Order: sequence, then structure tokens, then C-alpha cells
Amino acid sequence: MRTNTGQIIHLEDYRPTDFVLERVDLTFELDPRETKVEARLILHRREGVDPSAPLVLDGDELTMTGLLLDQEEIPATLYDALDDTLTIRGLPETAPFEITVTTLLSPETNTKLMGLYRTNDVYCTQCEAEGFRRITYFPDRPDVLAVYTVNIIADKATAPLLLSNGNYLGGAGMGDGRHFAAWFDPHPKPSYLFALVAGDLGVVEDTFTTVSGREVALKIYVEHGKEPRAVYAMDALKRSMKWDEEVFGREYDLDIFMIVAVSDFNMGAMENKGLNVFNDKYVLADPETATDTDYANIEAIIAHEYFHNWTGNRITCRDWFQLCLKEGLTVYRDHEFSADMRSRAVKRIAEVRHLKSEQFPEDAGPLAHPVRPTKYREINNFYTTTVYEKGSEVTRMIATILGRDLFKKGMDLYFDRHDGQAVTIEDFVACFEDASGRDLKQFSLWYHQAGTPLITASGSYDAAKATYTLSLEQTVPATPGQSAKKPMHIPLRVGLLLGDGSEATPTAVSGADVTADVVHLTERKQTVVFAGIPSRPVPSFNRGFSAPIKLHIEQSADDRALIARHEVDLFARWQALNAIALENLAEAAAQTRRSQPITCDDALIGGLLAAAGDERLEPAFRAQVLSLPSEADIAREIGRDNDPDAIQSGRQAILSGIAASGKEIFARLLGEMTLSGPFRPDAASAGRRALRNAALSYLVYGDDQPDKAASAFRSANNMTDLSQALTLLAHRFPEAQETIDALATFKQRFADNALVIDKWFAIQATIPGASTLDRVKALMSDPHFNPSNPNRVRSLVGTFAFANPTGFNRADGEGYRFLARQILDIDPRNPQLAARILTSMRSWRSLEQVRANHAQEALKEIAAASNLSADVSDIVDRMLS
Ligand code: PHE
Ligand code: ZN
Repeated sequence: MRTNTGQIIHLEDYRPTDFVLERVDLTFELDPRETKVEARLILHRREGVDPSAPLVLDGDELTMTGLLLDQEEIPATLYDALDDTLTIRGLPETAPFEITVTTLLSPETNTKLMGLYRTNDVYCTQCEAEGFRRITYFPDRPDVLAVYTVNIIADKATAPLLLSNGNYLGGAGMGDGRHFAAWFDPHPKPSYLFALVAGDLGVVEDTFTTVSGREVALKIYVEHGKEPRAVYAMDALKRSMKWDEEVFGREYDLDIFMIVAVSDFNMGAMENKGLNVFNDKYVLADPETATDTDYANIEAIIAHEYFHNWTGNRITCRDWFQLCLKEGLTVYRDHEFSADMRSRAVKRIAEVRHLKSEQFPEDAGPLAHPVRPTKYREINNFYTTTVYEKGSEVTRMIATILGRDLFKKGMDLYFDRHDGQAVTIEDFVACFEDASGRDLKQFSLWYHQAGTPLITASGSYDAAKATYTLSLEQTVPATPGQSAKKPMHIPLRVGLLLGDGSEATPTAVSGADVTADVVHLTERKQTVVFAGIPSRPVPSFNRGFSAPIKLHIEQSADDRALIARHEVDLFARWQALNAIALENLAEAAAQTRRSQPITCDDALIGGLLAAAGDERLEPAFRAQVLSLPSEADIAREIGRDNDPDAIQSGRQAILSGIAASGKEIFARLLGEMTLSGPFRPDAASAGRRALRNAALSYLVYGDDQPDKAASAFRSANNMTDLSQALTLLAHRFPEAQETIDALATFKQRFADNALVIDKWFAIQATIPGASTLDRVKALMSDPHFNPSNPNRVRSLVGTFAFANPTGFNRADGEGYRFLARQILDIDPRNPQLAARILTSMRSWRSLEQVRANHAQEALKEIAAASNLSADVSDIVDRMLS
């Protein structure tokens, strides 16, 4: 029997706390096994609250050694300390009072990485979402905002560095080998933004002068010796600070901004006020060890966490149902930042690829939930791509509907009106309504209805009347707990291309509100008539991916090819080619299953090669065009009864066809895109490397010998090229001696760099085919594998389950059984990590019957285990229901 099923929390049950927290003073006496925390809370009863109502504080796995009211011990009859709450009765009716709680913690044995824990001998905290209650009893909810003072006492030799939020007040030695430091954060904040770091770390320092002329000290702390690898992160930080001033008018508000990189972290990074804590993967980079993708991720995540200072910290969430208030908005902000730093079109393509491969399957499966959920059992399981990425898309749609100036006006109003508050999505949307005078009621359904809307479109041209009529129908699929859906307000950007590639300008449009090229769909069925169209147009839908929808339209490959050649919107060009590719790849999978020969549209090969060789297009865009939809993308296109093996072999056949036709172009690109001079991580250089590697990949797949990949491996002088070459070797020629040698060389060369060894694990975990499972099992005994480090587990076990369709979905079900055992092994140590990896099975129902049955068995095996965490039991129950 399961013991920890967890209660369901409902949005409608929200009510403010009975007591108002004014101030918090914390004193930490750090020790690996016995840290003493003294928390002094100054509180008063909220007006109108029952004078006999007790104070109820949250706790989790705490040992309490003292409890005082105004410095006097509270008698045992007046309080109850349970597992998850501390209830205190007999408190003053109106006067403010002080509660002092003393707790003892063991950071060293805290394997959940929530609360106070140790990573490589450094003390560090993670409090979002509900980790602060693992440090002391506390009103641990985001609508309780208070001003914090923090005193840290620790051994001076092993912890020379003592950090917390806000500004540094002072510190000194204590004569007994210990020292202390005091920090004060003047900005009221919720407990989830609290942070403490103590240990012995190296630092990279710089300064930033804000727009009003204040100098801010910037510090990035890393393990000793890794300082040179934090230089790029520092550069990204300064660019983020400047950009937020220029684009959103947001200035930083403390004297110091710190980032600490740690090697054990459950997520990407955390926006604690003035003291961000990062997974070291998103800080450390140099050409030898980081790929272009790593650089881009670092830039984006540094920006994301920095941007939270206003969207998340200064204005925070009323409750955890409002998570998208800070996450969706902040992702939107980091996307815009990256678009300004790099190529906007290429960035948009990458975002949409990510949204479709991660969020669309979530929205189409048993874990689907609204961007703003109304109930949860375990909040940790709601840090999802729906909340983050779809949340960002919803913000982007507000910007599309309002236009740039009114969107800015709405944002300014939001910052003005809600600074210092904990607010809701309704508050956020109201700012845009008030700033623009537009009614966003129907639009708000995007926050409340789960599922990806499907738009079915068909067009007809009337030559006599010179009109083009679009019939559009929207359906939102049923999702768990939501069977009937209302029609949504969908801002769909549409272009009408004429035969010569030019764009038609309609003289009038009826049947929908239209502003510029945005068609506002609001009805279930809508007929839109464009007048003054001189000849049959080809419609180009969802330019720039203006709405996160699926589109169904019968469109010939030739019409799509016209869009691919002539659209002014580069994203739409890529989208058209991607659509042809998906159709062909899905058909190839079906043909494989029927043992028929594989066919491929000339328009696909022609379109890809034309774009690849078009020098007017930037290399990064051409690389995106050449990168075929993944096996998972194809599975989603097919939608049901999926056979991953057939998808894989169909895809290989198409790939070989393109490789054969494009031989010359690819060979030429290999030479043309070669870079000389020292490595530079900028977007233009990265684009050339991407195009060169895309060309190399086709050349390798078009050949039956490993020479080309092996020689690319030998000549690579940066991690992007090196890891690509190793991937090609391992995936195309897993058994070749060249591959065995290259894997060994790579491992030996980077043996002391765990983040690079993670790439070595991931490359091998994604080798297609049934035998990879044995390889993964063997790698788990490698001395570099560490089952308690989340990055190691994610790169081996996580990558196998998430990114190896043929290996993981073995027809005999062994992949699922392996994962079930791993989940049960990880769960007692680190429930968050276990639950996250388990979501790799979220699309199990779309597999063909034999695999689906095996998957279900494995899920049932997990569900039947005793002592499951709330995290895993929540996920597994939803996946089975
Ligand atoms: N709030 C973090 C972010 O910026 C993510 C996070 C959530 C980190 C929970 C740790 C724990 O997205
Ligand atoms: Zn965030």
C-alpha cells in the first residue's frame, strides 16, 4: 500500500493567512550533520481574524529543539508539532509578537536537494517551491512577503564564503575558528526566494552601472580553477541587465548581484533575490568543453533568472496556481532577449521546435493541464513545458493582439500597479485590458483550457468575383477533467501568396476582425472572405507561429514549396518545408510497415537542397531547414498506433535519398562553411558550424564507411564539432573500431570534466536500436556515473528514455521495465528527479498495442510499489488514469 498519496489542493480554496509576517531574522550555525537554525518571526493577527485562531506553520522533516513566544518558552499544551505543521495557540489578539523556532538540520544527508543541502562540500539551499519548510517552521507560501535579515556562522577554513540575499551588512571572525556574516534584504519577499550559500569557491567579478548611475557589483562563484569558464556567463549577465533596462525599462535594485554554480541541482537554475543558484551546466563554458547549444542555453538561462528579479521577485505569485504569471512571462522575456542577441527567425524556429516536441505531447496526453491549473497534488510536478513554454506563447499572443506599443503600455502598468505584491493571472491580464481598452475575456481561455487547438482550414478562389474564401474551424480536444471546450480567441497571422511569389493585398476582408495580417478567430466556425485577390492565392498560415495550434489543411507540396521559396516571413518558409517533410516521413513509416518501397516528394528534396544552397539565406536558417523532423516529431504527426522501428527506418530511407541527391551541395558546404581563426561563440559563427555539421551528417549517412566522421572527429578544434562527429560515428557506426576508439579518446581526454562526460553518456544513450539498453546498463557501472547526481542521471537514464525512441521502446518492453526499476531506485533519494524522468512515458498510449501493453505493465509496477513519493505517485496515477 502506498502511504504518501498527498492531498489535492484547489485554487478555489485560496484564502489569505490569518497572520501577517512583518520581519524574519534567521541565524544559521552551519555544520554538515548538525546545522542549527534559529528563526525569529515577527507577526501580527490580520484584522478581522478570530482572536482565538491558532498560528499554523508549515514544516517538512524537521527536528525542533526550541519554541519561544516573545522569548518565553511556549508550554507543550499550547502547540502541536506534527510532520507537516506546527500549530500554536494562545497568541496575542492584536499586538505584534515574536515567535522563535529552533531547528536542527543535516545538510549532508539531504539527498532531495530541497531545503539546505551540501554539494561538493558547499552548503546551498533550494527553496522553490516548498523547500523553506525543510529549514524551519514557516508560513511557506508565496503570498507571505517579509523583509529578511540573515546571520551565517560557519567554520572559517572550510567555508570562507558566506552568502545570502540582499546587501552585505558585515562580518567578522569569532575567535573559535568560526566566523560570521550578516545580510539584509530590504525588498519584501516570499520564502521561496530565500537563499544561503557557504563554502570555499572561486569568483569572477565585474560591475554594472545602471541607467540611473548606480554601480552594482557582479559576482559569479564557481569551483576553484573553473573561473575562466564563467567569463561568458558574466558577459551574458551584463547584456541581460542592459537589455532589461532598454526594452522593459527595468533597473536592478540591490548593490550586488551574485550567481553561484553548483554541481548538484534538480533544475536549471533559481532566481533567489540577489543570489541566483545555477546548475553548473548553465554557467560553465569554454570552446574546448561547451557546444554552441551550451552557449545559447547559458545566455538564455542567465537572462531568464536575471529577468525574474522583476517578473517573479518584485512582483510575485499569489499562490502556486499562478506559476505561469512569473514563468510564462519570464520565458517570453528571455525568448525576446535571445531573439535580439541572435537571429530572430532562427530563434523562433528553435522555440517552435522545442514547443512542439515537448509541450504538444504533454498537452495531448494524460498529463495535460491548463497553463493556469486549478488543482494539484504535488506542485513540483507543475514546472512543466505547459506552464513555461505555452505560458510564454500566451504572453506572446497578448503582444500580437495588442501590438507593440499597447503591450508595452500594459507591461508598464503591471510593474507600476503591482510592484511589491503577490498577484494572479487575472491581475496580469487586467493590466493589458486597462492599457488597451480591449476585452481579453475570451482570450483568457488560453490560461484555462488545456489541449492544443486544432484549426482545420480550406480555401476556395472565385475568379469572377476576385475573392478568396477561407473556411476555418477550431476544435480544442478533450483533456483530463475538461471534456467540453469553448471556442478560443486565436490570433492567426495569414499571408496570401500569388503565383509569382508576391503577396496579395486584399481590398477588404469580412467574416473576422483583421489587423494587418492578423486574423482574429473567435468562433467555432468562421468564414473569412478576402476581396480584391487577382488570382488563386496560396495561403501561408500562422506566420511566426502567432498561435500555438495545430493546423490541418490540404495543401499540395508545390504550394508549400512556393511558400518555402517566397514567404517574407522566414519562419513560415521553414514551416512549409517542415510540413512537407513531416508528411513524407509519416508516409515513409506507413510504407515501411506495409513493406512497400519508400517514396519521397521531389518538392521535399528540391526544397531542402534549394534552401541549403541559397547563399542569400543565413547559414543557421539553412541548417534548421536541413535538420529533418525527429522520430518523435513523426510519431506525433502520425498520432496513434506508433511503431518506432518503422518510423526510424522510414526516416533513414528519406535521409539517404536526400543525402544521395545533395552529395555535391553538401561537399561544397563542408568546405565553404569551414571557419578559420580562433573559436567564437557568436550566433553567426555558430550558424556556420551548424550548417557545416548538417552537411557532414548527410555525407556520413550517404556513405557506408566511417572515414568522414572519423576524420571530422580527429580534426575538430571545438566541442561543437567534436561532439557532432562523435555522435555521427556512434549513431551511424556503433560497432566500428573507429567509434570504439573515438569514444575511448573522448572519455580519456575529458575524464576530469563531469559536464563533458555527460555528453559522452548522452551520445551513447541515444544510439538507435534495441541493443542500446545493454549499453546503458553497462554505463551505469562506469566510475563516472553517480546515481545521486541529477545531471549524471538525466544524461544517461533520462536521455535514454526521452530521446531514444527505438532503444527505449523496445518491442519486448525491456526498456520500460528498466525505467520502472530506475524510478523506484531514484525515488527514495530524490523524488523530484524520479518524477521528472518518469514523464518520459507520457505518450505511451499512442504506441502500437504490444508496446502500449508493456508500458502499462511497467507503470502499474511503479504504482504498486510501497512508499512512493507524492511526486512519483501523482505522475504515475495521472498517466494510468
Ligand atoms: N524558478 C526556476 C526558474 O527560473 C525553476 C526552479 C523551480 C528551480 C523549482 C528550482 C526549483 O525557472
Ligand atoms: Zn523561471
